[in-house]
Amino acid sequence: MNQPIDKDGVDPVRVPQRLLHTGARMPGIGLGTFGSDRFSGAQIAEAVKGAAAVGYRHFDCAAVYGNEALIGEALREVMKGGVPREDLWITSKLWNDKHGEKDVFPACEKSLKDLQLDYLDLYLVHWPFPNFHAPGCDVTSRSANAKPYVHENYMKTWRQMEKLVGMGLVRHIGTSNMTIPKLKLVLRDAGIKPAVNEMELHPHFQQPDLFRFVMDNGIAPIGFCPIGSPTRPDRDKTPDDTVDIEDPVIVRIAKRLNVHPAVVCVKWAVQRGQTPIPFSVYRNEYLGNLRCTVTEPLTGEEMRAIAGSDRNCRLIKGQVFLWKENQTWEDLWDLNGEITPA
Ligand SMILES: NC(=O)c1ccc[n+]([C@@H]2O[C@H](COP(=O)([O-])OP(=O)(O)OC[C@H]3O[C@@H](n4cnc5c(N)ncnc54)[C@H](OP(=O)(O)O)[C@@H]3O)[C@@H](O)[C@H]2O)c1
Repeated sequence: MNQPIDKDGVDPVRVPQRLLHTGARMPGIGLGTFGSDRFSGAQIAEAVKGAAAVGYRHFDCAAVYGNEALIGEALREVMKGGVPREDLWITSKLWNDKHGEKDVFPACEKSLKDLQLDYLDLYLVHWPFPNFHAPGCDVTSRSANAKPYVHENYMKTWRQMEKLVGMGLVRHIGTSNMTIPKLKLVLRDAGIKPAVNEMELHPHFQQPDLFRFVMDNGIAPIGFCPIGSPTRPDRDKTPDDTVDIEDPVIVRIAKRLNVHPAVVCVKWAVQRGQTPIPFSVYRNEYLGNLRCTVTEPLTGEEMRAIAGSDRNCRLIKGQVFLWKENQTWEDLWDLNGEITPA
């Protein structure tokens, strides 16, 4: 018997799905589970249960969020309550200090054990830089052992990711925080091409070139910080950052729809073709984010107005990954079309 959906929830069969190049279908919206240092693991696990009850089937997890064991308990309850495993889409991610060839399998095993699962639907390489930094460290913090992107090394990690697919522990593998030049090399050399690329995407940071590149190459974009991450840790804020939910275009559309501007960001994301993974522990918020995916679409004029609101404002800049003196965070993102030399 399937778990009954709350009366005001959304039947998961109505939620938009993304067809991946493998032929699999991924729910076109998921719940983020990074608590931004503000929300406890217990609160997030409770949100996972609540979100499943209103119709979410896709959960974006990661070892580094430090809450997979609690989320595993929540998922066990969700499945005990009648949601079949095959209806769920669970993502986890390999953290940056686990890129070593011998580290990938144990890291995946640990996430599986914590999440109480036999397999993951998607396993991502969280960042392309194999750098350890202490959790919660400041953006000015640098690791003496920081390393640049070295493609041969990334592919060694990728081969291990491919092995996990062969072993049946992982159904799909993907990349995150990548750039076009890095992805071109991965596409050239991969035995199993990435099914998705998880990337920062919100109205003020639309990444049109990378978005088009992944779509053209049959890689589904998953968009993180879809609302512009208003509750992100203070360490991830800089004075020039803009605020998506205060954008006049977003606010105008929110007024027309009588919803919070956050909901407009989510609705736009789904309609544009990415899979947003908004985070919230509040039922009214995560329910509103899900419901907007099955209501009347934004108008063509509204979609064009949001497309014109891009500010190229990256929020998650990755400063802690810089590997030598006198670099700026822009060096991490290959802005001139070439991988920044080591
Ligand atoms: N792959 C990566 O490297 C990477 C990086 C960053 C994030 N992620 C993933 O992406 C997920 C989402 O990113 P994020 O959590 O940084 O940012 P986000 O989803 O853009 O913003 C989350 C915040 O938006 C507010 N919000 C959500 N729904 C709302 C609604 N309907 N009405 C009003 N406010 C609403 C909430 O603030 P209040 O709590 O104040 O209501 C919530 O804390 C993460 O949880 C994580 O799973 C991945």
